[in-house]
Amino acid sequence: MADLRKTILTTERQIENIMEVEDRYQVATYKKFPFAIERGEDVWVYTSEGERYLDLYGGHAVVSTGHSHPRVVRAISEQAGQLIFYSNLVYNGARARAAKKLVEVAPDRFTRAFFVNSGTEANENAMKIARKLTGRKNIISFEGGFHGRTPGSLSATGLPKYREGVSPLLGHHVYAPFDDIEALADLLDEETAAVILEPIQSMGGVRMGSPDFYVALREMCDRAGAMLIYDEVQTGMGRTGEYFFAGRFDVLPDMVTLAKGIASGVPIGAALVGEEIAIEIKTGDLGTTFGGGPLASAALEATIDVIRDEQLLENVRANSERMFAELTDIPSVEEVRGLGYLIGIKFKSGNARPYQQALLESKIITGLSDDASVLRLLPPLTLRWPEIEVFLDELSRV
Ligand SMILES: Cc1ncc(COP(=O)(O)O)c(C=O)c1O
Repeated sequence: MADLRKTILTTERQIENIMEVEDRYQVATYKKFPFAIERGEDVWVYTSEGERYLDLYGGHAVVSTGHSHPRVVRAISEQAGQLIFYSNLVYNGARARAAKKLVEVAPDRFTRAFFVNSGTEANENAMKIARKLTGRKNIISFEGGFHGRTPGSLSATGLPKYREGVSPLLGHHVYAPFDDIEALADLLDEETAAVILEPIQSMGGVRMGSPDFYVALREMCDRAGAMLIYDEVQTGMGRTGEYFFAGRFDVLPDMVTLAKGIASGVPIGAALVGEEIAIEIKTGDLGTTFGGGPLASAALEATIDVIRDEQLLENVRANSERMFAELTDIPSVEEVRGLGYLIGIKFKSGNARPYQQALLESKIITGLSDDASVLRLLPPLTLRWPEIEVFLDELSRV
C-alpha cells in the first residue's frame, strides 16, 4: 500500500514537473492544454498519466498519417542510421525520391520543388520569387488569411492581431476582402507581383470561397501579369480529400506552398513551381541549410506512400461527407464549413470554447480558430468512422 502511494505521488510529481519545467524554461508564448503527451498511436495520444485522448487536432494539421505511423517511423529510423543530414551541396537518394514523389502527386503544371523547413519559409520564398520574376513589389492577400510569423508572411497575414506591435512590417502589402471579386478588381493591377491566399482560410474560421472566386482570381492574375500563389500549408497533402486544392474548379495557381502534414510531423516545407518559373531561378537565388535534409525527405516519401497505399484520400472523402451531414443535424450547430478533414463547426451560441472544453473533459482534442464561434477539426487523415461516431455522440451530448 505504502509502495503504491509512493508510486502515485512520484508519478504526480513527474507530471507536475514536466509542466513546471516547460513553463519555467520556455518563453511563455503558448496557451497549453493541462497535460503532457508522452506517446501517440494513429488517432490517439497518451498522456504521461496514461490517459488516452482522441486527437481531432492532429498537432495542428500536421500528423497526416496518424501518430508514429510504423512506416514513417521505419523510414526515419533507417534514414537516421544511414545519414541524418548533409546539406544541399551534395546529391542524396532520400531527397531525390522525395522531390520526385511530391512532384508526381502534384497537378502536372508543377514540375519542381524547392524544399524549406516550415510554412512561413515556403511563403517567404514564393513571394520572393514572384517579386523577382515580375520585377514588381506589390502583394495582395486576404482579410482573414494566415501565412506565418516571419516578416514577409506576417505582412501578408490578414488577421490584424498577429501584426499588431510588430514593426516594421514589409511595405507593398494590401489586403482584400475574401471571396469578393469586385474588391479584388479594384486592387489588382500591373503593379501587382502576386496574389497569395489560403484557398480555405483555416485560422480565420475555416472559410472557403465560391467556385467563381477562384476562377476569377486566375483570370484576373493572368490579365494583370501577376502570379497566383496558393498557400496550401493546411489544405495540401490530402487534407481536403485530394492531394492539393490546386486544380479544384480547374484553377491552377503559379505556385503552391506546403508544410505541416507533408512529412507526418518531421519539419519540412516546400514551394512547388512549374518549368516557366523554375527556368528563371538561378543558382544562388534561393537557399536554406536544412531544407530537403535526408531525414525529413525520408519522412516525406513515407508519408506519400502511406497516403497512397492506405487510400487515405478516399477515406477522407467518404468519412467527411458523412460527418458533415451528421454534424449539420446537431441542434447546437449553426453551420459546418470546410472540406475533407479541414472542418469548422460554427455554434449557434457564438462561443466554441465551452464545447472545446467539454470535449476535452471527454478526452477529445479539438482546436479553436480566430472566429470565436468556430471549433476546428484537423485530424489525421487516418481517422475512421468508429472514432468519428465517438466524437459525434460526445458533441451531441455536450
Ligand atoms: C495556412 C498557413 N500558412 C502558413 C503557416 C505557417 O507555417 P509554419 O508555422 O510552419 O511557419 C501556417 C501555420 O499555421 C498556416 O496555417
